[in-house]
Order: sequence, then structure tokens, then C-alpha cells
Amino acid sequence: ELGPYSDYMRKEIHEQPDAIRRAVMGRLDERFATAKLGGLNFDPRELRNIKRVKFLGCGSAYYAGQMGAALVEELARIPADAEPASEFRYRSPVVDPDALYVAVSQSGETSDTLMAVQELKRKGGQVMGAVNVVGSAIGRECGHGIFLHAGPEVAVASTKALTNMAVNFALLALLLGRVRDLSAAQGERVVRGLRGLPSQVTAMLNAEDEIAAIASEFADADHMFFIGRVRGWPVAREGAQKLKEISYVHAEAYQAGELKHGPLALIAPDMPSVVVIPSDDLVAKNISTIEQIKARGGPVIAVTSTDIPAGLADALIRVPRTEPELEPILFNIPLQLLAYHTAAKLGRDIDKPRNLAKSVTVE
Ligand code: BG6
Repeated sequence: ELGPYSDYMRKEIHEQPDAIRRAVMGRLDERFATAKLGGLNFDPRELRNIKRVKFLGCGSAYYAGQMGAALVEELARIPADAEPASEFRYRSPVVDPDALYVAVSQSGETSDTLMAVQELKRKGGQVMGAVNVVGSAIGRECGHGIFLHAGPEVAVASTKALTNMAVNFALLALLLGRVRDLSAAQGERVVRGLRGLPSQVTAMLNAEDEIAAIASEFADADHMFFIGRVRGWPVAREGAQKLKEISYVHAEAYQAGELKHGPLALIAPDMPSVVVIPSDDLVAKNISTIEQIKARGGPVIAVTSTDIPAGLADALIRVPRTEPELEPILFNIPLQLLAYHTAAKLGRDIDKPRNLAKSVTVE
């Protein structure tokens, strides 16, 4: 089953172009520049009545939900956010009858997420599933939603399922946008962007050796920062999570703007920072973040789809340009590879990290 791969995580990383193709196949409506999501069961009027969207999930599914919330706000201009399902179910949440709740789960069996769905249903909330495993508990409990079509994921650390979550949320956001004010031209732009993703991911995977070399160079660090802002923030969080779960290197994600309010005190030559720089309005601010880190002797790995001054960062990982709203999907890929090759260099049991399970079905 593993074919040429030594473990499932690397196999699943390399399956991503096909996984994305499966997620968008048959779901893009070129004529009306929108998405078709058959499992959703909402008519246009019901879609228009959604006043708020909240994504609920655990671990990578929560970070994917954060990416989804940004997509929904940007493309549909509906207020949206994400919350860990494990928090939501315990905090006596106010359930908004005009909101759409999205339960996000690869396995569809995560107990915290399932309990959040049950709590929502009990309070009359409108909830849909975004699950990978067909027939799973969360999918059945929600009754409607979108399947991720990532294919079976075996490695504990989620890669292709996380990617397909974000791709599916782009489809959902496109659909919600096109029943509102997103123009056909803007819709076409997103459709084109989605179509282009698989070959862009392939191009990034072809540059794996360069990322492996960077991973070896920094693998002896005990701690790492992952810095991003706005679209780069959930990417930084997911990148930090991936690194810590499979390599056991302590990694912490921080919003770039918050660095100066505390963590800058930790910047030193033995504390590398991975800085995520999408092609957005904040490039200059992100460059100045790198300068602040460098001024304190901190090594920087820049991950970027834009041009930054030569020699500014100690290592540079290039990400191809896509439509701005879709950038987080591509930025995840090199961070998966960075985590993977750090763990490989350190000789970790990549598919089965210590203390973790693929899906946590008990408290
Ligand atoms: C964690 C896994 O326990 O559960 C993560 O280690 C995963 O990789 C999370 O993201 C949520 O799982 P699921 O199946 O609900 O997406």
C-alpha cells in the first residue's frame, strides 16, 4: 500500500494534488461561476438567510476551520469564526438560530466534535458536517454537509484532509458569496484559482529536496516560532502544530503584530522563526517583522509568494502565486514538508507520534 514511500505521511503529502482534484471535480459550475455542493441541501433563499458561520473542530480541523472562516468572510462577507469543538461543548454556548455551524472532522468520530454537534442540535442550531469518512458518526448526526473527498488518511498528522478541508471551505464560501454580492467576475477568478491548485501543489512537491535541506539545517533547534498575520495566521498555527506533533520540537505560533507585546523577549540565535508572508497588503509589515527578529539575532525561515529583499532571511521557501484568498491552501504544503523532514532527520516515528491517536473517540 505504501508504494515507493517509507511512511503514510509522506505518501499522503504527495497525494494532495489528486485529493484537491477530487474535491473540486464536478463541483465547479463554470457557467455561473459558483460551486455545486449536492450534500448541502439548502436552497438559495436558505443560503441567503445565513447570518453567521461558525466552524467547530479539533486540532488541524480547527485550524482548517479558521481558514474557512476567513474565506467565508472574504468571499461572502458573512461574519465567520472558528472555535475548538472541545471548548464550545463545555462553555454553555449561545446558539444563534440564524447561524450555520460547520462541524469539521477528518474521521467524523472525534468525541469533542460529535458532542458539540449534539449540544447544537439540542439547542436548535443549524449544523452541517464537513467530514472525510463517509458513514461516520458526525456525518450521520449532521444529516447534511460536504464530504472532503481526501481519500483514506492513515498518518496521525493530518495533511491531505486538512488541505481538502480548506479547499471545500473555499467552495462553500464561493457558493455563499455567489448567492449574495460576489460578482460573476470575482467568482470566475476563484474558480480559476481552484482549478490551478493541483499543478501548483505538484510544483511545490517537486521542490521537496530544498525544504528537506532547510529542515536538516534547523533540526537541532529546541524551540521555533511560527509567525503570520491575517491569512498567514492559521497557516502559522497549523505549521507549528505539525512540527510539534511529529518532531517533538517545541513550536509556538504567534500573530506578527503580537510579537512586540511579549514573545520578542525570547528571540535569540537559538530560536528560529518561520515567517509566513502571503502576497497581500501586509508584505511591508511582514518584512519589518523579519527585520525586528534579525535585529535580535533570531534566524528566519521566510515562506513567501512575493519578493522580499535578498539576503533578508536565512532561508527562503517559495510558494507559487494563486488568488489571494486561496493562498493559505498552498502555504500549508511547505510547512508540512518542513515538519516531516525535521521529524525524519530526528528519527521520529512519523506516522505514529508518541501519545497521539488518529482520532480521539473518548474523553
Ligand atoms: C487529533 C489528531 O487527535 O484529532 C489530529 O491527532 C486531528 O491530527 C484531530 O486533526 C481532529 O481529528 P478529526 O478526525 O476530527 O479531524
